[in-house]
Amino acid sequence: MSEACILGIETSCDETAAAVVRAGERLLSNVVSSQIATHQPYGGVVPELASREHLRAIVPVVRQALAEAGQNYQSLDAVAVTRGPGLAGALLVGISFAKALAYALKKPLITVNHLEGHIHAVLLEEKQKGNFSVAFPVLALVVSGGHTHLFLAEEREQCWQYENIGRTRDDAAGEAYDKVAKLLGLGYPGGPVIDALSPHGNPRAVKFGPVQIKHRNRGVSKEDQTAYDFSFSGIKTAVLRYVQTEGMRNSVDVRRQALATLVKPKSEELLQHCDQKTLDLVASFQRTVVNDLVAKTLQAAHECGARTVFVTGGVAANNELRQSFVREAAKAGLPVYFPSRQLSTDNAAMIAAAAYPKFLAGDFASAEFSAEASLAL
Ligand code: KG4
Ligand code: ZN
Repeated sequence: MSEACILGIETSCDETAAAVVRAGERLLSNVVSSQIATHQPYGGVVPELASREHLRAIVPVVRQALAEAGQNYQSLDAVAVTRGPGLAGALLVGISFAKALAYALKKPLITVNHLEGHIHAVLLEEKQKGNFSVAFPVLALVVSGGHTHLFLAEEREQCWQYENIGRTRDDAAGEAYDKVAKLLGLGYPGGPVIDALSPHGNPRAVKFGPVQIKHRNRGVSKEDQTAYDFSFSGIKTAVLRYVQTEGMRNSVDVRRQALATLVKPKSEELLQHCDQKTLDLVASFQRTVVNDLVAKTLQAAHECGARTVFVTGGVAANNELRQSFVREAAKAGLPVYFPSRQLSTDNAAMIAAAAYPKFLAGDFASAEFSAEASLAL
């Protein structure tokens, strides 16, 4: 078996990341430069600013990844880069850099789908722990700021093949977290904040209708419908309506101003600025989203005969989601694996790991390819 060392590069959204992974199973370095401080004042990622920050960070981040791995440009066996999906301008920074590097070094260049990367983050860490016997088919829930997808994955001749059996019809789950946090004046990104606050609220205090697709049969062709689709825009609107009808607007404005000066507020600082009503609302929102993600994923796993469940992407860092999956999957007799919190959110280790089967198969990119903002898996 080849011991190839692959440099991964990831710039699809707001993290500039580089990592070196040996043989798809040994993480030698993992460097992530986050742009949270740049985008925080806007309450979301600003594409032009993201590209500019990637340009600034890419060279030092790659150098650091090589140094921490004890590698140099010559000792690498291949360069892997995210081709999409993501922000076109942001992707292009990583792609241009990776192309130039591979060309100058005369090393193979491998392109990776960002979503496939999230799935391989799980596999990389399982292998690192010594677990080489993941049972197929695997049902992977990829749940992040831009995506909520269910993929049924099979391994054939060392390569993974995917069938997309569910997706969000509107907002991604992470997007709903971010929007709800924004409208409650809790800052950006919303997921970690709501995760930290939820245990302090009553998750049964506010009743939301089931987070389900409305009007499933309208505007969607029959072939395009799947039973496992998600929809999170309704709950975001329900939170907004609750804030309006319960007269919470003033307290939201006060909180927004108080937290605006803090870059990464600690849980205690967040708690100081939240009344019980807000904590109950946040806890109820999270419980509804988590229950929906867990129930639909396990239903799909059961009906599709999956033998393993992977939960990955930024929202997979969520404590309640993890606990709920562990509890419910155990009842269903299914093993469920997550990446560590570090590899749940965007990183380049997952890109280098996903590139390894392609390296073995000689699946290399030609020089002509470009970024694909809506690349499907
Ligand atoms: O995978 P990721 O880093 O980037 C995308 O590919 O989108 O995911 C970022 C998303 C954001 O929406 C963020 O709010 C969410 O993941 N997130 C979380 C948590 N940590 C990050 N959502 C819920 N709970 C968390 N602990
Ligand atoms: Zn991601």
